[in-house]
Amino acid sequence: MAPLIAYLLLLAGAVHARHDNYEGHLLYRIWGPSHQISSLEASIDILSAKPAAISSSRQLEALIRLSPQEKEQWLPYFEKNDMGYKLVSDNLANILRAEESQINRARETANTNSTITWDAYYNSEQIFKYIDEVGEKYPNLVTVINAGLSYEGRQIKYVRISTTRFENTRKPVIVIDAAVHAREWVTSPVALYLIEQLVTGADKELLEKIDWIIIPMANPDGYEYSINEDRLWRKTRSKSHEGADECPGVDGNRNFDFHFGSRPASADPCSIIYEGPSAFSEPEIRVIRDAVMSNLPRTALYISLHSYGNMFLYAWGHNGTLPSNGLALHLAGIRMATAIDKVKLDKATPYIVGNAAQVLYFTSGTSRDWTRSVGIPLTYTMELPGYEYEFIVPPTYIKQIITESWAGIAEGGHYVLNMYN
Ligand SMILES: *[C@@H]1O[C@H](CO)[C@@H](O)[C@H](O)[C@H]1NC(C)=O
Ligand SMILES: *[C@@H]1O[C@H](CO)[C@@H](O)[C@H](O)[C@H]1NC(C)=O
Repeated sequence: MAPLIAYLLLLAGAVHARHDNYEGHLLYRIWGPSHQISSLEASIDILSAKPAAISSSRQLEALIRLSPQEKEQWLPYFEKNDMGYKLVSDNLANILRAEESQINRARETANTNSTITWDAYYNSEQIFKYIDEVGEKYPNLVTVINAGLSYEGRQIKYVRISTTRFENTRKPVIVIDAAVHAREWVTSPVALYLIEQLVTGADKELLEKIDWIIIPMANPDGYEYSINEDRLWRKTRSKSHEGADECPGVDGNRNFDFHFGSRPASADPCSIIYEGPSAFSEPEIRVIRDAVMSNLPRTALYISLHSYGNMFLYAWGHNGTLPSNGLALHLAGIRMATAIDKVKLDKATPYIVGNAAQVLYFTSGTSRDWTRSVGIPLTYTMELPGYEYEFIVPPTYIKQIITESWAGIAEGGHYVLNMYN
């Protein structure tokens, strides 16, 4: 109880000033040829991107944030380059304040008997506490791993779920991570709900025949910073690189050791997609690396939870070609997407399944490509739905998103079991 109250007070006290840094910032939807949209990636804050609805194949649509000064600079550029743009909101700070009030109201009415409910967001301490509680409640199924410290010294905890303590090496393993990108808050509830569904036996086959490694809060430093200081923070909070005083933090999903350093756009510490001084420079990313490597030969499926965009993206993201098992990657992706689409809200667009570079744009150093390169057959970046603004998710949608995502990931688990039988 005590931490919850403290946290509520903290939120209530800070609500007025916290979002001032986005006062007058504008949200625009822009669209154009994919090479043009992707060339903006290092210089503009792209909140989400997706293939354009009406498309002569390679058209992308993106939601971006512009400060008033950036607006003066970029709108003429869009005009000159025949890109479309449309104002979505003329004050981002108001949207963030509204989100925060909604979260506070959700917390006040939340069922206080349990540390976590599915209608509010929680800080990293509460998430780790929940993980410990699950471990205590299901000691025969759950092992809590204290995997190591974040850059700022927070203990990163994750769970291994197994009916055979990971000793039956004939079982396939599935690895899931969440919150590598700090601002993508809704990814953690999806991972936590997955844990809950598994341990409570919602699908006995998935529990008994598969070993699970689930990392619900990969980047607690960045996450806390996005709660307390800057809602749109995406990176870690490390300061081990040159230029860190001015621009701390690394994009965790560019920090994996796969074609690292091959894209100039990721070399600038101040870019939102900064890859870091070296591959695996981030302690948070080494936690994921080590979890993946721990049972590599029998790991069949890896999913990194991100948001937003309703997509399953697979390798290779650095050059746009398909791995040798491209067909299986596509089929498994379609199976998961179809399971989700069956239970999605009517207003949500169907999931897109495809090669990351062909659907969106080129990337290097991603977890999806690295996990495929070390031999895991099925690896995906899963972009959850955004609803409303496609960059923050009102807490009223959490239940829908965790339920439909569970349906999709469970389907992925069954695909893996068929693969092994
Ligand atoms: C909390 O737990 C108590 C005792 O078990 C129960 O009487 C009460 O109804 C619960 N409250 C809610 C909101 O579930
Ligand atoms: C794309 O990358 C993969 C993985 O590194 C490699 O096997 C393949 O040959 C590359 N394809 C092209 C056209 O460069």
